[in-house]
Amino acid sequence: MSDRKRMAAERAVELVEDGMKVGLGTGSTAYYAIEAIGRLVRNGYKIVAVPTSLASERQARDLEIPLATLEEVGTLDITIDGADEVDRDLDLIKGMGGALLREKIVAHSTLQEIIVVDDSKVVQTLGTKFPLPVEVVPFSHGRTRYYMELLGCRAELRGGSEPFITDNGNLIYHLHFESGIEDPYDLQRKLKDIPGVVETGLFLKMAKKVVVAFDSGIRVMERDVTK
Ligand code: A5P
Repeated sequence: MSDRKRMAAERAVELVEDGMKVGLGTGSTAYYAIEAIGRLVRNGYKIVAVPTSLASERQARDLEIPLATLEEVGTLDITIDGADEVDRDLDLIKGMGGALLREKIVAHSTLQEIIVVDDSKVVQTLGTKFPLPVEVVPFSHGRTRYYMELLGCRAELRGGSEPFITDNGNLIYHLHFESGIEDPYDLQRKLKDIPGVVETGLFLKMAKKVVVAFDSGIRVMERDVTK
């Protein structure tokens, strides 16, 4: 499994060029991409990077990758990040690592969002293998949960009695849909209409390419921009 993650990450890092502004993803697959970007920096590449979490920031600092904020650098050339699920339209569920909000802000400011996964993450229907993580403000979050559940899911607070707190001081709910997410676009709109919801882990029309590692090799899926 970790070999496939490393293979996908290293293939994606081949797209990074000297002088680029690079977004650093979060999670166990993005970890290998950050390692490989560290090697590019050691070999003399002039890269400036924006991390999507405190964990990725720490890793990048250890590797002496030059860092900046999104405000300082503006639009990024490329971001390499993981995902929990990928469907055939290259729509994604992200956020099981708890970093979905910063990941989405960074992805939105990126020309080429490159996703790196092993083949276990490819699904027919989003929400069938993983729940959908949603970042929620702590104030009255039980009411936010109530309204989320009216959309036909079971909402489970991440961490339960010891709730997980995001890098932004918020909570995460995991939304379980019994037969998966029928219409991710409709669900995204409805969730964002609920006061208290900060952001969802649905990354729709954001990935430019998905690098999938199989035991037998790599396949690069590219999004059909006409859809
Ligand atoms: C972090 O919040 C996530 O979006 C990760 O990118 C996602 O959970 C994939 O993580 P792994 O690469 O560890 O499976």
